[in-house]
Amino acid sequence: MTGDVTTTTPDEGWVHPAWLPAEAWRPVGSRRVAVVGDGRDAPADTRSTQEHPVLATVRAELRAATQRWGGALVATGRGAADLDPGPDLVLVVGDGAGEAFTVDHGPALTVTADGPLGLLHGLHHVVRHGEAAFVGAPAAGLTGRHAPVQPVRMLDHWDNLEVHPVMGQVERGYAGGSIFWDDGRLRDDLARAASYARLLGSTGINAVAVNNVNVHRVEARLLTDGLDQVARLAEVFRPWGIRTYLSVSFAAPVVVGGLTTSDPLDEDVRRWWAEAADRVWARIPDFGGFVVKADSEGQPGPFAYGRDHADGANLLARAVAPHGGTVFWRAFVYDHQQDWRDRTTDRARAAHDHFTPLDGRFDDNVVVQVKQGPIDFQVREPVSPLLAAMPATRVAVELQVTQEYTGQQRHVCYLGPAWSQVLSFQPWGSPGPTVADVAAGHGPGARAAGVVAVSNVGDDPFWTGHPLAQANLYAFGRLAWDPALDPTDVLDEWIRLTFGDDPAVASTVHEVMDESWTTYEDYTAPLGIGFMVRPGGHYGPDVDGYEYTPWGTYHFADRDGIGVDRTRATGTGFTGQYPSPWRDVYESPETCPDELLLFFHHVPYTHRLRSGVTVVQHVYDTHLRGVERVEEMAQAWAELAGRVDPRVDARVRERLAEQRRSAVEWRDQLTTYFLRKSGVPDEHGRPLYP
Ligand code: GCU
Repeated sequence: MTGDVTTTTPDEGWVHPAWLPAEAWRPVGSRRVAVVGDGRDAPADTRSTQEHPVLATVRAELRAATQRWGGALVATGRGAADLDPGPDLVLVVGDGAGEAFTVDHGPALTVTADGPLGLLHGLHHVVRHGEAAFVGAPAAGLTGRHAPVQPVRMLDHWDNLEVHPVMGQVERGYAGGSIFWDDGRLRDDLARAASYARLLGSTGINAVAVNNVNVHRVEARLLTDGLDQVARLAEVFRPWGIRTYLSVSFAAPVVVGGLTTSDPLDEDVRRWWAEAADRVWARIPDFGGFVVKADSEGQPGPFAYGRDHADGANLLARAVAPHGGTVFWRAFVYDHQQDWRDRTTDRARAAHDHFTPLDGRFDDNVVVQVKQGPIDFQVREPVSPLLAAMPATRVAVELQVTQEYTGQQRHVCYLGPAWSQVLSFQPWGSPGPTVADVAAGHGPGARAAGVVAVSNVGDDPFWTGHPLAQANLYAFGRLAWDPALDPTDVLDEWIRLTFGDDPAVASTVHEVMDESWTTYEDYTAPLGIGFMVRPGGHYGPDVDGYEYTPWGTYHFADRDGIGVDRTRATGTGFTGQYPSPWRDVYESPETCPDELLLFFHHVPYTHRLRSGVTVVQHVYDTHLRGVERVEEMAQAWAELAGRVDPRVDARVRERLAEQRRSAVEWRDQLTTYFLRKSGVPDEHGRPLYP
C-alpha cells in the first residue's frame, strides 16, 4: 500500500481539483521538512514491519510537495532532527492511536503528534495556515495543542449501487452519480474515491458510511457476498485515517440470510448477525460498524415483531461489540402515513416520543443518531429536543450537507452558520452545555458519540454540482473537529485553499456566500414553517404541495392565519419536550424567536413580530429582499471574470442564473399566496401578483 497514495486531486480536464490544489502546498513544499519517528516505537517484538498507512500518506504528501516546490524532505526515521542547516518544519510522530497534535514555534515549526493520525491532522493544520505558518509572528491559532472535539466525524453517503427509478443513483444527490458504485457494483477505477478520501482526510473526517440508509436488496448483499467490494473501499479510506461503515437492513437475516424472521430476540437471528459481523471484521479489521434506518419511511425494523428500538439496536451492537464496532441507530422514526385530518399526531414529537422511554437501555456501543431538527433538515427548524433528553445514551447529531431543502446545489447556500447555530445551541439555557457538548460527551450524563452528515458529493466534474457547495463539505469537517470555529473563518480557509490568495476573489466569494443561508430563507418558507416545496423532488415552491399528504408536514393556512400550534396550552404539546427555559420561551408567541414563530404557533397574518412588522408584511419584505440579494450576489460574482478558473466561473454563473429564476418564482408564489389568503396589501404599495 505504501507509496501509491494519491497526493493530488484529479485535474484531467473534466474534474475540477477542489480545495488542496498543488498550489496550497507551496509554503510547506518549498521548505526543509523532517519527519521524526516512525509511529512504531512499540517494543521490537510487537512492532509491525509495515509502516502505518497514515504515516505513509504523510510522507507521500511531503515527498510530492517538496519535489514540486523545491523544498526537501531532509530526514525520515527515528531521532534525526539535529541536521545542519536545520529543517523549517519538524513533524514528530508518537506511536499512539490518538488524533491530537501540538504545534510549537521555535527555530523550526514543530508538530508533535500523538500518533500517525494526529500527524496527518497536524500537517494539514500547517498547510491551512499557508505562508503565515512560517513567516512573522506565529498566527493566531497556529501553536498549542489541538484535539478534535468530536470523536466521530462521519459522512453518510446516500449512494445506491444501482440507479433507483425514483431517487436516481444518489438519493437526494445533486452532483451526478456515485463516485463509488456503478451499475450495481463497485467501480473498477477508484481514483476519484481516493481523491475524495484525501479531501476528507484534510478536513478531519474520520468515518464514512458508503451506501444509502434506505437499503435495497443489492446493497444488503454488501454485508455478505459483496464484502470484497467494501474491503476495497476501506483500503481507499484507510490511508487518510477514515474508517468505513456500512448501512445495513434490519431485515438482512431474511433478505440475504435466508431466515424466516428478523426478530431481535430470536436466537437464529442473533447468531446470524454475530456471524455476519465476524466475517466483516475478518475481512476488514478496522471496520467501523453499521448505520441503521429502521421503522422509518418503510424500512424494516423491530416494530414488526413487537420489539422496541433498544432491542433492535442492541441486537446489532452485541454482534459487533467483540470487534470494537459501533452501531449508529437513527432516531428518524415517525408515522409517514398520517391522515392530514388527524390534528392530534405531530411529526415533530415523534423521535422524542419513541426514544426517550428507551434512555439507559442502549448498549455502550450504540450511538443514537438524531437529526438536528425535529422534522427534516428544513432551512430553519428548532433544535431537536431529543438531543437533550437521553442523558444515559450516546447521542450523535446528524446534519445534511447535501442541500435537499436548501437549494439542491443549484442555489448558493453556505450552511456553516446554520450548523454553527445548532452546535452551539444550549438546550438547558445559558450558561450550560451545548449540543456539540452533548455529542462530544460533555453534556449531563452523556458519553462521547460525534457528529454525522449526509454527503453532497457525486461524479460531477465539480464534485458537488455547484462549485461553491464544496464549502459545505469542507465546513462540516472543520466544525466537526471544532464546533467553536467561526463559520466565516472556516469559509475563509476554504476560499484560500481553493482559489488561492487573491484578496479580491476572497472578498467577492465572501460577499456571495456569507449570508447565503439567510438569503435562501428569505425567499423560501418563512418564519420556521418549513416545506412549501414541490412534493417528491423538493425543488421549487408549492405552498400547499404537502398540505393534504400523509407526510405530517402541514402549515394549516386559512383566511385568518397560519402556523402550527405546538404549545402545551392549546396545541400538540411539543414545546413540553424541551427542558427549561426553552419549553417556556417557545410556548408563548411573545417570547418565541421570530424565525421560529410559525413552527410553534398558529397566528393571524396581522400578528406583530418582535421585529415590529406583521407576519404578512414580513413575508412581503423578506421575499422581495431575498430576490434583490440574489441579484447582488450575481453582480458580485460577475466581477470575478478572469480571476477564477473559467470552468468554475461558467458553472457558477449558470447556477446563479437558475437561483435567480427560482428565487423569483418562490417570491411570486409566496407573496401571492399570502396576499390572497389575507387580503392585506403591502404597506409600501409595491406591486405583488394577486
Ligand atoms: C428525508 C429524505 C429521504 C431520506 C430521509 C432519511 O426524508 O427526503 O430521501 O431517506 O430523509 O433521512 O432517511
